[in-house]
Amino acid sequence: MRVYPSVKLYSFTVQVTKSVKLSNTVVKTYKFEIFTATIEKNIREGIFKPGHKLPSVRELKAQYKTSISTIQNGYEHLVILGLVESVPKSGYYVSNRPEVVKQAPKPRLRPVVRDAIFKHHLGLTTSLRAGRKLSEFNVAAPGDLLMPQKLLLRTMQQVIREQGAGLLHYYPSNGGATLKASIVKRAAAHQSILHPDELVVTDGALQALYIALTAVCNAGDVVAVESPCVFSALEVIRVLQLKVIEIPVDPLTGFDVDFLKKACHNTPVKAVIITPNFHNPTGLSLTQEQQLALLSIAQQHHIAVIENDIYGDLHFHGPRPSTIRRFDDSGLVLTYASYAKTLAPGIRLGWLSAGKFMQRAEQVKFALGSTVSPLYQETVNKLLAGSSYDRHVRAFRMQLARNAHFAIHLLSAHFPKKTAIITPAGGYNLWVKLPEHVDMTHFYAQCEKIGIRFTPGSTFSFSGTFDKHFRLVFADKFFPKKIEAIKLLGKRLR
Ligand SMILES: Cc1ncc(COP(=O)(O)O)c(C=O)c1O
Repeated sequence: MRVYPSVKLYSFTVQVTKSVKLSNTVVKTYKFEIFTATIEKNIREGIFKPGHKLPSVRELKAQYKTSISTIQNGYEHLVILGLVESVPKSGYYVSNRPEVVKQAPKPRLRPVVRDAIFKHHLGLTTSLRAGRKLSEFNVAAPGDLLMPQKLLLRTMQQVIREQGAGLLHYYPSNGGATLKASIVKRAAAHQSILHPDELVVTDGALQALYIALTAVCNAGDVVAVESPCVFSALEVIRVLQLKVIEIPVDPLTGFDVDFLKKACHNTPVKAVIITPNFHNPTGLSLTQEQQLALLSIAQQHHIAVIENDIYGDLHFHGPRPSTIRRFDDSGLVLTYASYAKTLAPGIRLGWLSAGKFMQRAEQVKFALGSTVSPLYQETVNKLLAGSSYDRHVRAFRMQLARNAHFAIHLLSAHFPKKTAIITPAGGYNLWVKLPEHVDMTHFYAQCEKIGIRFTPGSTFSFSGTFDKHFRLVFADKFFPKKIEAIKLLGKRLR
């Protein structure tokens, strides 16, 4: 048995023992092992590759304060093992002999244990890109042709030219003052009164949700969510080890406020996560009556209302809808959103208005990385300050309204009878329920064959409901290839 003293090659603080006692066995060690053990380990684990020049005898002598003969004996030992070769007048090198390389055991890698559900759901909700060309309807983000790519890249370049090295500093942890002022002003235009002192600029909406939940809850607390609920929000809940009550969202009547009321009577609910406008995936919104009823339950039981207004700007008709926040004077409502759905998901910029939970929220935000990239902050700032954002959003939501109409007609004409679709009034998600008789294994096998990707309904709940549903995202142009793919899928289902 070999026992390697735990030394580092370049460590000066090593003690060498002549013998090591292991249980009742005494194992002899050699003085030269002070350096050979490390070299041997590095060679066997492939860290020192064949041909790698090893430290000279003089260097090692100085480093380990030992005699030349000890170092030479050590190298001799490594040569005999076949690990090292001596090149006259040059020094010692890692051996090139293939049998030595072959023998080298693989570096000891720790197995990474991955959560299978997370990995699976992540795959279903993100783009393959590098893979084969698919008709992707599963990623909730503007498609390349509807994303204002030129506007964003041009604005970023302008910002870099104008602000230069100023962008390389830390910005205030809660976000720049002008950006916060813009966000407050825009919210006020739809009667949602925010205050800059209660605002945290975040790295997207999901981070805002993480901060909000961390500010309000502790592990083990119960939160109420819409059912169906987007996978990313469920994942934040899971990571924070919260318990969940799923509140049904009915295709006809929307969020079931009565169900929430009963749940709050029986269970100490800490927070409700709600989407007042164009819920993902159903596209439904809360009526004003539902918003007021929900707020009244929250105030009665002292429950935080965490509202996600990420799709609020993407209304198809009428004025921009408001939020639950406009009715609240208790500070229990936390509102958040981002520009991932209206501009591009790569612009990592969102915000959270944290109400009475602000103090804790800003601490959590700081702990998550102090400040959001100044480049993103200034880019969005510039777009909001001028008319560019509004012009883009106006054109985008008109296109989305056309897309929604087109997608519903396409499915109605080609999918099996009794396929149920909720007509959204904004956003870009279509929630589709297939008839009971459709075999979902067959359905997804056909999707795979034809090259279509939808988001399976099962990802929208912890309880495995919605397996007959899928979400179709219509945030891209409907090219003939995509249209034909859907028609073919419908044909195979009928
Ligand atoms: C409802 C909802 N909230 C949050 C997010 C994530 O937004 P962000 O990219 O800004 O973190 C998404 C994206 O899928 C979403 O649909």
